[in-house]
Amino acid sequence: MPDLRPRPLPEVTILGHPAGQPVAARLPELDHLAYGGDYSPEQWPDEIWDRDYEAFDAARITTVTVGVFTWALTQPDEDVLDFSMLDKIVQRAADEGRSICLGTGTGALPPWMARKYPDITRVDFEGRRHRYGQRHNACWSSPDYRRLAAQIALRLAERYGSHPAVVAWHVGNEYGGRCYCELCAAEFRRWLKARYETLDELNEAWNTVFWSHRFTDWDEIEPPSALTEHWGGPGKTAFQGITLDFHRFSTDNALRQFRDEKGAIREHSELPVTTNFMGFFQPLDYHRWSADLDFASWDNYPRRYDEPWATALAHDLMRGLKDGAPFWLMEQTPSVTASRDVNPVRRPGIVRLWSWQAVAHGADSVLYFQMRASRGACEMTHGAVLDHSGRLDTRTFREVAGLGKEVETVGGILLGARTPTRCALVVDWDSWWAVEMADGPNRHLRYLSTITDWARPFWEAGAQLDVVPVTADLSAYDVVAAPLLHLVKGDTAARLRTVAERGGTVITGCLSGRADEDDRRFLADAPGPLAGLAGVRVAETDAAEPGVMNPVVFDGEGGASPAAGEMVFEVLVPDGAEVLARYGADFYAGEPAITRRAVAVDGGREGHVWYVGTQLDATGLSRIVTDALERHDLVGPYADVPGLEFATRIAASGQTVDFLLHHGPRDATIRLHASGTDLLTGRDLSAGDVIVLHPADVIVLRRTRPAPR
Ligand code: GAL
Repeated sequence: MPDLRPRPLPEVTILGHPAGQPVAARLPELDHLAYGGDYSPEQWPDEIWDRDYEAFDAARITTVTVGVFTWALTQPDEDVLDFSMLDKIVQRAADEGRSICLGTGTGALPPWMARKYPDITRVDFEGRRHRYGQRHNACWSSPDYRRLAAQIALRLAERYGSHPAVVAWHVGNEYGGRCYCELCAAEFRRWLKARYETLDELNEAWNTVFWSHRFTDWDEIEPPSALTEHWGGPGKTAFQGITLDFHRFSTDNALRQFRDEKGAIREHSELPVTTNFMGFFQPLDYHRWSADLDFASWDNYPRRYDEPWATALAHDLMRGLKDGAPFWLMEQTPSVTASRDVNPVRRPGIVRLWSWQAVAHGADSVLYFQMRASRGACEMTHGAVLDHSGRLDTRTFREVAGLGKEVETVGGILLGARTPTRCALVVDWDSWWAVEMADGPNRHLRYLSTITDWARPFWEAGAQLDVVPVTADLSAYDVVAAPLLHLVKGDTAARLRTVAERGGTVITGCLSGRADEDDRRFLADAPGPLAGLAGVRVAETDAAEPGVMNPVVFDGEGGASPAAGEMVFEVLVPDGAEVLARYGADFYAGEPAITRRAVAVDGGREGHVWYVGTQLDATGLSRIVTDALERHDLVGPYADVPGLEFATRIAASGQTVDFLLHHGPRDATIRLHASGTDLLTGRDLSAGDVIVLHPADVIVLRRTRPAPR
């Protein structure tokens, strides 16, 4: 039997979500969607500020994020605080009637600090101590950095915490990176002691009997790096247990840094505190941060430009951090992102489309990076609302101003609006780390690509998803997808079971249920604790290079199915489940590839548990998800319109607001599903109206309330 006993936990639960802790959100108090972005006027003379604010008026900019990189100005030396520039920036924004999201500035060190306290710079994966340079460069274990960062946060809160224009705190910037210095090693050992209490427990969890690694003193434990367990690179470890714990520790160490600053802010200010996340960012388990954020926020720089469901999923992840409460879109480019090798501009209408997409998924803000382009350094070619000329007749500015007008028109209707959904996708950072550091079965497998592929058919069907951690309460969902649930921890299997037992549908699949919370294999058939639920066992696991497909033939179709699997091929043996599809090639041709178990429910209904034994292509995934959604009557009104995204929010007033977002390359003719008013144009529309949507068109339809009887 798999050992699922919970282990005592350190500062935050190892399960990846603060189960039982309050995650209720507190957002900035505004009466409209925040519109604006990062603004660094410290880079320019006064006359440029004057022109900027005229432009901001024209674009209906309501909110500026300032102070994100001003530490060297506010503290030019350890004993010198100089708020003259920040005072001027804050006062000017306030005088111009803007709300301010105020940075603590700790994402980039002043040079003196690294010189005075060399332990503040990081030691990298290869063991090199960094010298001063770059940003996001501080060691979170350095007592000097921790002290100085908390001090500046405290001073800022003291000075600006009751300023009427300041509405939110923005701690640091895009937490990321790792450090492998001696201080981090010591902190890691401290963290491990809190988690395991005894070395016997740790040795057991990491299976150190393998390769003679049995630790007899805590000080023998080294952070896993290129010099220790990772000779093959960051993704290859000799000991999964130590690497998994180092990921968790690094997340907690960054979180502690955030807590330090938030605690300092709280000495003088009760305003909501956030930090800007990066969507699906593998190094940090954002679920472990949920309870500490007052509200979630993130920077949207889509990595898969042509896959709007990928962006949608990242928004859904952010909304899920605070149990469905709205979040802030903290950054997006208004034109180009400068950090990639090739930087295409956003096509006409795309910034507007993606902005409304963010709002459709729960954003209560539309903010840009950046308001004005830097004159020099690496981001001088990055897009900005105002380019170096400051012209207002650029396409970018016109589009930003046009959107500003729309945002102003929509006003506060959507503030606090919730997303009604009956579908969830389970995301687990531990599984993400574990499945990608495993020596087998396939190093090409990518967790994020997989969950994105699974999300796609939901998006296409117009069935909104909540992205939830493994600890989430699943009782509100009819369909729960749990791809690559590699580690099964705590009572996750039992909670998935209850979904099926009340008639819901659970969809899981290959490489799930393989290991426990320490990434030790279950001494059982795969999928371990999920085997009984899925009614299946994995007899054998094959793998192939990406692009090598094996047809997946749904039963009863005489080999006509166009679906196929890739990369991982589990040969399934049903044990209570029905076989729905079989492999079409190789020595296991004809063997089960996809199964479904029916779970009897009172009243003659049944729940379903799907097990998909391969990395199934879009055609196959669509079949399964469509089957599940149809069963629960969750297919949206435009599922048959390619590229048309459909999303809904329920406003605080109880009004339903639907979003129609056309990502497709061609005009789409639709028959409208409901009557209401398009908030962007003021047009009244009726259910059944035939409407042509051009590429990038958006409708924000406030539904007409049903007439009282
Ligand atoms: C973000 C970052 C900003 C800026 C921007 C450029 O990741 O928070 O400071 O660097 O990227 O795209």
